Amino acid sequence: MKKKFGAKIGLVPYASVVIGTYDENGNPDAMNVGWAMQVGSKEVAINILKHKTLDNLKESKAFTMAFVTKDTMVASDYVGLVSAAKTPNKIEKSGLTCRQSDYVNAPEFEEYPMTFHCDVISITEEFGNTRIVGEIKETTIDDRYLGNDNLPDFRKMGIVWFEDTHKDYVLMGDVAGKAFSVGKKLKEE
Ligand SMILES: Cc1cc2nc3c(=O)[nH]c(=O)nc-3n(C[C@H](O)[C@H](O)[C@H](O)COP(=O)(O)O)c2cc1C
Repeated sequence: MKKKFGAKIGLVPYASVVIGTYDENGNPDAMNVGWAMQVGSKEVAINILKHKTLDNLKESKAFTMAFVTKDTMVASDYVGLVSAAKTPNKIEKSGLTCRQSDYVNAPEFEEYPMTFHCDVISITEEFGNTRIVGEIKETTIDDRYLGNDNLPDFRKMGIVWFEDTHKDYVLMGDVAGKAFSVGKKLKEE
């Protein structure tokens, strides 16, 4: 029997990312975002409510998007629980190490193995959220996490995804099969 859940279950798996921005005085802020996705070949979108980060994005027009890992999960969760509007030393308390991105006007956090560096290209109101679309200007990946094929090894990084139904951070699982390949056998029959 198939049970009905209306529209309560989101499009799993959700990426789990931390958005780095500067406020109007150049102070770094970070917030956890579960509603993020790829919307073009170089474009990513985040959906955010009225947080300090939204003010920052409108002002600075740039952000970094760091991928949450098992090792950065505690700091990442913390920056999703506390607002820089009420806790100005939020970044210090998170323990994250902040540096200026070499590519955009936003802070980068050293502890994350993989980061997108983005310029804001649009800000629109839709479906009760503000949608920010950013163009990825650069992607930086700690070379300790590249595989033998010189491509990123996401499992080695310990990247997690956000499971919104139970509110869990979930480690990536095993490879189940080769995409654009496993279906070929039916095509050939
Ligand atoms: C797992 C997790 C996912 C979250 N996803 C979102 C999201 O997609 N959009 C959003 O507006 N807030 C989201 N939040 C809440 C913000 O991260 C939180 O309100 C944060 O304190 C805002 O920080 P700021 O006020 O310093 O910008 C999430 C929080 C957590 C813990």
